Amino acid sequence: MAGDDPDILRRPQQKPPLIQFLSIAFRNMKTVGTICPSSPMLARALAQSVIETSSPKRVLEVGPGTGPMTKEILRALRPGDEFDVVELSSEFCHELEARILAPWRRQSPGVRITLHNAAIQEADLDAASYDCVVCGLPFNNFDHELVESIMRRMLELLRPGGELSYFCYLGAKTMKSTVIDEAGRRNLRAIKRLEDELHLTHSGSREVVLANFPPAEVRRLRKP
Ligand SMILES: C[S@@+](CC[C@H](N)C(=O)[O-])C[C@H]1O[C@@H](n2cnc3c(N)ncnc32)[C@H](O)[C@@H]1O
Repeated sequence: MAGDDPDILRRPQQKPPLIQFLSIAFRNMKTVGTICPSSPMLARALAQSVIETSSPKRVLEVGPGTGPMTKEILRALRPGDEFDVVELSSEFCHELEARILAPWRRQSPGVRITLHNAAIQEADLDAASYDCVVCGLPFNNFDHELVESIMRRMLELLRPGGELSYFCYLGAKTMKSTVIDEAGRRNLRAIKRLEDELHLTHSGSREVVLANFPPAEVRRLRKP
């Protein structure tokens, strides 16, 4: 059954997800943005809105990597739910499909799961149709114009009343500011201004998750 905890998530894999994650992350540091996948506690906090939203629901995940958030989301889905996953890296897509999505589809045919190997800015998705958007993108690595266009896109994809959750590492902007140039610091300040503005205009809330490396903060925005 879709809500149960299927064996497939506990089976040993050929290559441990962490090794897989590291090998792809080191080659794509700008878009992956970290050397460690999210902990189960951070993944659960990010998937909270999916857990709390009643079915049928439509869920979008952006930037799953090796899939810690994907697994939490899948556990909260029921027959009749729809789940779109958008991942830029074809290597991560391949891993995710083979290790998590294909086995889950076989086990829970009532849940429609679609993987899009694309950038979220370009993926072919229906506007204003998702109840929950869960995002794992490393915004502090991006230009602020890109962060703004991705944020606006994700909010546009949410239906009114739907929730977007994303995360950032605690103190990341402050620490990063000490090792980058003035243009980089201006970029981080612009990202922070955007995040603060969206927090105010979209009933923002924040939750600290210490049980992650590095400790993180989950941010939630609700579409008016
Ligand atoms: C920090 S990793 C997050 C991995 C995973 N969500 C986790 O929490 O462990 C960021 C992921 O976002 C993907 N990504 C980066 N830019 C993207 C974009 N514009 N659209 C979709 N995925 C993107 C990267 O390829 C990478 O898999």
